[in-house]
Amino acid sequence: MRVVVDQVGKQYAGPAGNPVAALENVCLTVEEEEFVVLVGPSGCGKSTLLNMVGGLLAPTSGRIVMEGLREDRDPSVGIVFQEVGLFPWRTVESNIAFGLEESTLTPAERRECVQRHIELVGLSGFENSYPHQLSGGMRQRAGIARTLAIQPDLLLMDEPFSALDAQTRTLMQEELLRIWETHRLSTLYVTHNIQEAVYLADRIVVLSRRPGRVNSILSIDLPRRGRDRAENLSRFNEYCDHIWSLIRKDAEEALREV
Ligand SMILES: Nc1ncnc2c1ncn2[C@@H]1O[C@H](COP(=O)(O)OP(=O)(O)OP(=O)(O)O)[C@@H](O)[C@H]1O
Ligand SMILES: [Mg+2]
Repeated sequence: MRVVVDQVGKQYAGPAGNPVAALENVCLTVEEEEFVVLVGPSGCGKSTLLNMVGGLLAPTSGRIVMEGLREDRDPSVGIVFQEVGLFPWRTVESNIAFGLEESTLTPAERRECVQRHIELVGLSGFENSYPHQLSGGMRQRAGIARTLAIQPDLLLMDEPFSALDAQTRTLMQEELLRIWETHRLSTLYVTHNIQEAVYLADRIVVLSRRPGRVNSILSIDLPRRGRDRAENLSRFNEYCDHIWSLIRKDAEEALREV
């Protein structure tokens, strides 16, 4: 599926009811099977944009169009947030099955689908564990499995790994790429971590500070896997330095305001 964000703006009501512009005239596309990462300083409207693409918020101006669905139906969108939001009273298996309860699958197909996704994210053996019995990384895996099990046409992720420690985060990024290659979903991923963006993205959209606008869009011309290998390191770092130079001024100003 392809997503077109066309001249989208968003205003919120400020404290005194006055309109506060969060985003202005944002244009971008997520092509079929493309992994697009949104980066930008805190408060630039990344989550706002993601939530509008996911249909959780309405744009104040412009439009968001989903194109290229094969059947005549509404697109299904899978969203993974920073806080996974697993049901604490349900096991891993039953959390993943949750999204399938309304589906047309037979009970046997449903069980098979749940099992396949548990294996995909490496949680075999933890089917009957409750969320509080899992580590943060495992909870994120369960959340990703639950989202992928509904077979979304579009995957949206909002800083899914930012609550994890650095090592777990690195492992989860690798894991995400491995999983992503088996599904190849059109993906929009939000992070403020530049290394993470360069590690994951086909293209990076850099947003400028409030009101968020598209500052630049870069294609990352590195092999999809192994971007952190020695032979890619200098180009990897060049991309990171370039993106940092684009957002540095904005980020410093944002910091002074907080
Ligand atoms: N419900 C709301 N009501 C009023 N203003 C809001 C609301 N949600 C967000 N905003 C404002 O809109 C702007 C963009 O917020 P948003 O959460 O999209 O930023 P972000 O880029 O995701 O930030 P972060 O990197 O910190 O997560 C901010 O200035 C924020 O204060
Ligand atoms: Mg956010």
